[in-house]
Amino acid sequence: MSNRTLRNPHFDDNRVLWNDAYSGQYAPVAYEEQFDGQWRMFLNGDRGFHKHTGVETDDEYIDDRIAELTGVRDYLWTKQHGDRAEQFAIETGRKERAERRGVGGRLYLEPKFPIDYFKAKSCIDIGCGAGRWTKTLISLGAKVKSIDVGEAGLESTRRFNDDVERVGLFDIGSARPDLVNRFDFTICWGVIMCTHDPKLAFEKVASTVRPGGSLYIMVYAPTYHSGDFVMTARRTYHREKTTSAERIAYLKDLAKGDEDNMINYLDMLNTFYNWVIDEETIHGWCAANGLKAPVILNRTEPNLCGYHVLIERP
Ligand SMILES: C[S@@+](CC[C@H](N)C(=O)[O-])C[C@H]1O[C@@H](n2cnc3c(N)ncnc32)[C@H](O)[C@@H]1O
Repeated sequence: MSNRTLRNPHFDDNRVLWNDAYSGQYAPVAYEEQFDGQWRMFLNGDRGFHKHTGVETDDEYIDDRIAELTGVRDYLWTKQHGDRAEQFAIETGRKERAERRGVGGRLYLEPKFPIDYFKAKSCIDIGCGAGRWTKTLISLGAKVKSIDVGEAGLESTRRFNDDVERVGLFDIGSARPDLVNRFDFTICWGVIMCTHDPKLAFEKVASTVRPGGSLYIMVYAPTYHSGDFVMTARRTYHREKTTSAERIAYLKDLAKGDEDNMINYLDMLNTFYNWVIDEETIHGWCAANGLKAPVILNRTEPNLCGYHVLIERP
């Protein structure tokens, strides 16, 4: 079914803030297609779709992700170069590249995970995309299963993980009971709020965590993504621009002057569902699924766009 024939909560019903009462009211879309183009452009090295914090998997970028999670800087670099790491960083221009590597935004997470937190842990990366979190966790000693529905993302992640599988998150449990109650650590970053049913998506994702394990999710907060800029841009893109040529032209127009950040604009525009989730709802999800109270890891972030949430299963 074409997305055009599906009811859209925002454009048809004026609903952007998710409410659990909406569960079951909206239909799935072709999730395998939604992100495929951007991961393909990443693999092709297109401007604005690589060398970006939201996607890049080069070691320099993975070192930044490790620093965001653990506070330890230059982890892989130091491992590789030992005593000469500092000098090499100067000689090879790594230091100067640090600012450029911030395109796409940095994460402000507190408290940090201990550097050995992931060591030997069994993890699952749900909606792994091009695989930056998979690679980050593997670099920290974890064993990771990576799942997604988009072919280009899976192709990218297979470059550094053998355990990569095409699985839709709504199949967890029903079609894939083997994934339930199994993992020490589940990461699901930027996926739940882009589905037709975030309540159900959360249940599926949380079900993968074994007792004593934990879950890290990122979902959009009711801030930037429910603000005028995003709301107007999405409505224009989905309702006024009908051909893909028109949509690409609109995307380029929006990203003018910020071309290295193009993937963020496409990410914001292209999904059919783009819910924002409030803290109360996240608390409700945790209670309903037998989880401990959630910890918001980015409470102190300036201009917070999403909630980074750590949740433990007792
Ligand atoms: C915004 S991207 C985030 C990618 C990755 N987690 C990251 O942070 O780099 C969302 C990813 O979720 C995947 N996805 C969307 N719906 C899904 C579903 N129903 N089941 C599995 N993966 C899904 C998309 O294909 C896409 O790769």
